[in-house]
Amino acid sequence: LNFCVPKKRKEILDKLIKGLQRLEYRGYDSAGIGVDGGNDIEKNEQSTILIKKRGKVINLQEEIQGREDLNFDLEFDSHLGIAHTRWATHGVPNNVNSHPQRSDSNNEFVVVHNGIITNYKDIKKFLVGKGFEFESDTDTEVIAKLVKYMYDTRENDSISFRELVEGTVQQLEGAFAVVFKSTKFPGQAVASRRGSPLLIGIASKSKLSTDHIPILYSKGAGKNEGGSTVTGNNQDALHNANSTSSFQPANGDGQVEYFFASDASAIIEHTNRVIFMEDDDVAAVTDGCLSLHRIRRSVDESSTRQVQTLQMEIQQIMRGNYSTFMQKEIFEQPESVVNTMRGRINFDDNKVHLGGLKQHINELKRCRRLIFIACGTSYHSAMATRQLMEELTELPVMVELASDFLDRKTPIFRDDVCFFISQSGETADTLMALRYCKGRGALTVGITNVVGSSISRETDCGVHINAGPEIGVASTKAYTSQFIALVMFGLMMCEDRISMQQRRADIIKGLKDLPDKIKEVLKLDEEVHSLAQELYQQKSVLIMGRGYNFATCLEGALKVKELTYMHSEGILAGELKHGPLALVDKAMPIIMIIMKDGTYTKCQNALQQVVARMGRPILLCEQGDTLSQKEAHRVMELPGIVDCLSGLLTVIPLQLLSFHIAVLKGCDVDCPRNLAKSVTVE
Ligand code: G6P
Repeated sequence: LNFCVPKKRKEILDKLIKGLQRLEYRGYDSAGIGVDGGNDIEKNEQSTILIKKRGKVINLQEEIQGREDLNFDLEFDSHLGIAHTRWATHGVPNNVNSHPQRSDSNNEFVVVHNGIITNYKDIKKFLVGKGFEFESDTDTEVIAKLVKYMYDTRENDSISFRELVEGTVQQLEGAFAVVFKSTKFPGQAVASRRGSPLLIGIASKSKLSTDHIPILYSKGAGKNEGGSTVTGNNQDALHNANSTSSFQPANGDGQVEYFFASDASAIIEHTNRVIFMEDDDVAAVTDGCLSLHRIRRSVDESSTRQVQTLQMEIQQIMRGNYSTFMQKEIFEQPESVVNTMRGRINFDDNKVHLGGLKQHINELKRCRRLIFIACGTSYHSAMATRQLMEELTELPVMVELASDFLDRKTPIFRDDVCFFISQSGETADTLMALRYCKGRGALTVGITNVVGSSISRETDCGVHINAGPEIGVASTKAYTSQFIALVMFGLMMCEDRISMQQRRADIIKGLKDLPDKIKEVLKLDEEVHSLAQELYQQKSVLIMGRGYNFATCLEGALKVKELTYMHSEGILAGELKHGPLALVDKAMPIIMIIMKDGTYTKCQNALQQVVARMGRPILLCEQGDTLSQKEAHRVMELPGIVDCLSGLLTVIPLQLLSFHIAVLKGCDVDCPRNLAKSVTVE
């Protein structure tokens, strides 16, 4: 949103497209924009142009460039543009179902939406009854039409855009982050969220007048904390730039741009000053002023929103010399694991300090059960550390897939500690499980990578894994960092236990040596590449292991599936004789992980069973393990490390393998088909 900055349409379009490109990593299937028509449309100055396209952002960009009716040199003093990448939930990916969705063929009200509206059928029925004709199969279209209906049937001519949006979102059930634009309210943007992330970026050359923006409450909501009467009359807020209710940079030269985005990476090159909107916040920008509103006021809620300064740098999200973000992220692991441990482990006295848990340390130590809840790769990080967690805490440890946990309505007690592990911190299933556990009085702990994410804000306490932005849809460095965060938690829990000191010392030594060992494993890249050449035309690959490395098998198989669209299965070697053995013959590719830990002898048995069925195992084993190597078709040797950390090393060749197979098969490594980085729908 530009204010008082004459800008060419081309510049505005480029900025919107760039924002969409920055969000590409989240996964999507179509994209669209809505921009001001301006005075090149003779009949109607207040028009909105919508351009939408199925597929990649580049398709949209080409469509825009080819539009002869657009005057790219046209200048705007202020402008509101909206843009969106869609990941289909209701309605197939096509141009019509892409966002922005509109109220009518004149594009009077247009909206972009993330999330799912669960009561859209009821609203649609109502609106169809009022004569509205729907053009898309989306749930979102009801939002654009409902706001128009509210406008058309308004009783008061002075009703504001913000009030219309408030009325509209109150009718919606489900999850949403929405931004509205209207030809009836030129230059104004109104945004709101419930359940889906949304932030406001403020780009201004001048210093901000305040870093706390007060919330305005609607009539009847009560008093604000400043003691002044709360008013629903937005005119106060919007037309008085100096009032404490609205916000504009101080001593401004009048140049300010506001951004609404679901993710900071879309806007970080323009500003690092952001406000994270809370559920049911409504934000409005009019005449260069931002105001924040809530319809209802609940007890104990903050009456301001803070402008935060993000530390994320644009270089961090660039790809550098690597061909894909995923490859970069795999090779970043020697550094990202250090960042996870930084300032938290004292390698001299073996103390572990997790600042985010400090306030709750007594509760944590008194708890009766640990429950780890997550999805996808994050779930595997909990699987990978479960055995160690049981050993170090001597507590029962449950590891749950968030969706299944919710399906079962698992009993939760006040003395449970529930962990929510999520790279993005936005995964809808995990977030809902968090709310479920919170509602039952358990202590909730977040293990997330994205600061300010919903899970990190809604949990009682937590640990940021500090792995840096992860852009490849398939998670890699976040996995190893989640693993380490959980190990550190286990170490912290048994700090005072004398019987555990030697074990703790061995693990901490292992963590200290980890970055160098990861570097050593990464040197296998060429060997893994050659293995990929052998495997990439196969239909299936089995990955077997047990004990500390079972999770590596699951995670390795998930990586292969996600990236290469090849079937792959992680198999617990102990279950081999209960079914999977039937799959074994000389043609079936089988990767076996055998490390010199407590399961070594049992793994040898599994190896023999596979070889006896003419299987040709590809072995991931410890350097110098000649016994295992005798039987193998191919061998990759890994450095030894304390048993419970070996999963941090064994997963890396499998990350590399899936990457190389994907490249050989010509798959889109960073954005695998049908997948999204951040799954904010159930
Ligand atoms: C999606 C991603 C996976 C990720 C999972 C959980 O499926 O594609 O890479 O592991 O979500 O995401 P989270 O952000 O909660 O870790």
